[in-house]
Amino acid sequence: MDNYKLLITGGIPLVGETYVSGGKNTSVAVIPAALLSDEPCTIENLPDIEDVRVLVDILTALGAQVNFDPAARQMYVDPRTVNSFKVPFKQSQRMRASYYLIGALLGRCGHAEVGYPGGCAIGNRPMEQHLKAFRALGAEVEDKGGVIYANGRMLGGDVFFDKITVGGTINAMLAAARADGITILHNAAKEPHIVDLANFLNSMGARVKGAGTDTIRITGQSFLHGSTYSVIPDQIETGTLMIAAAATRGDVTIRGCIPTHMEALTAKLLEMGVQVSDMDDAIRVRTLRGHRAVNIKTQEYPGFPTDLQQPMSALLTRASGDSIVIETIFESRLKHLMEMRRMGARVQIVDQTALIEGVTELYGAPVTATDLRAGAALVVAGLMAKGTTEIYEPGFIERGYEHIEEKLRALGAKIWREPVCDHTDPCAG
Ligand code: EPU
Repeated sequence: MDNYKLLITGGIPLVGETYVSGGKNTSVAVIPAALLSDEPCTIENLPDIEDVRVLVDILTALGAQVNFDPAARQMYVDPRTVNSFKVPFKQSQRMRASYYLIGALLGRCGHAEVGYPGGCAIGNRPMEQHLKAFRALGAEVEDKGGVIYANGRMLGGDVFFDKITVGGTINAMLAAARADGITILHNAAKEPHIVDLANFLNSMGARVKGAGTDTIRITGQSFLHGSTYSVIPDQIETGTLMIAAAATRGDVTIRGCIPTHMEALTAKLLEMGVQVSDMDDAIRVRTLRGHRAVNIKTQEYPGFPTDLQQPMSALLTRASGDSIVIETIFESRLKHLMEMRRMGARVQIVDQTALIEGVTELYGAPVTATDLRAGAALVVAGLMAKGTTEIYEPGFIERGYEHIEEKLRALGAKIWREPVCDHTDPCAG
């Protein structure tokens, strides 16, 4: 349980300029990919978030020389000293993306023993497509006692994903980059971070083609050289800031983003009546009038991202009219709306669908973040609400948003932390 809570006094329009940090979901793929190199790599534009710090611990425990400088947003990784292929459960369960160590270690040395991943409790999140890909490339894989054991020289092969999976696509790319042969991934995910990982691998001399389409072809290379690479900006942070700007009826310019990655969200915000202007590497979001209700159905990229469904559905609780939100990717990603009922939101939830009846006001209340994007959604809710909202378990938010409180404060938000004291704690008096 987190020993602090976040407090937000809402109703203040966010105004000004802000910037986007490096992408979480790209960083957590690119950092393990550095293990595939035969030489040191420097990764730039990394966000200073918990998931990145956990990867520093994991790579260091594997024997790599790692130096992360959060102020410079830079990480140096020398994988030449790696002397282990085991990631114990104690470490792997600290984050979801620890499962990329399986692909990276298989690719590097043909052996991986990695405990089950942790991450947000947003659904069942099975991994059979990852394991199927490793087997297609020549690995023997055993899933026993909470540990994935994978062994074998990677030979390349055809992988037909039964469903589109971001993690499965990334893991297969990692395992295939140094394989002895050609790998073709069919029905691959197309998210921007898949393209970013391909660009990083290619910058080390790998041959990955087709990333960003549903067929990726990887010609394995026996040697990968060192590289200095800068990861792309975080499209989910960009989207969350866009939604927060709209939610407070503010006027915010978000710099350092890639507007083409935001098209699904931009289209929905425009449909709601929000003004969105794209520049080369910036987006300005303004609201001049009230918001119209819209329907959302989450899909794989380039569809509406599941990671923005939570902040977006928070925004819809105050739109004029009824909205239907259908979450198709994860089974349990509507819990933030249950919390928001306490703030006055009118929501009915049936299975993975929410029917939201827009209200004119939300009111501050104590609420609990149940996962990273639920936390972001509750921040959006708090920014909109009259009075003060208390968000418990805000640690989830730190896993994916760099300096979110500072960024919002700089735009005029009243957001601060206070310690949480229980009755067993001396500070409870
Ligand atoms: N799936 C399977 N079998 C598999 C793999 C996935 O059934 O072997 C299912 C999942 O249960 C889910 C769907 O396929 O229903 C899509 O899952 P995917 O593998 O694409 O997601 P993921 O790799 O677990 C990543 C991000 C998530 C993001 C999703 C979808 C990371 C570390 N995580 O998860 O990010 O929601 O892709 O875009 O990159 C977040 O940032 O808050 C977050 C949860």
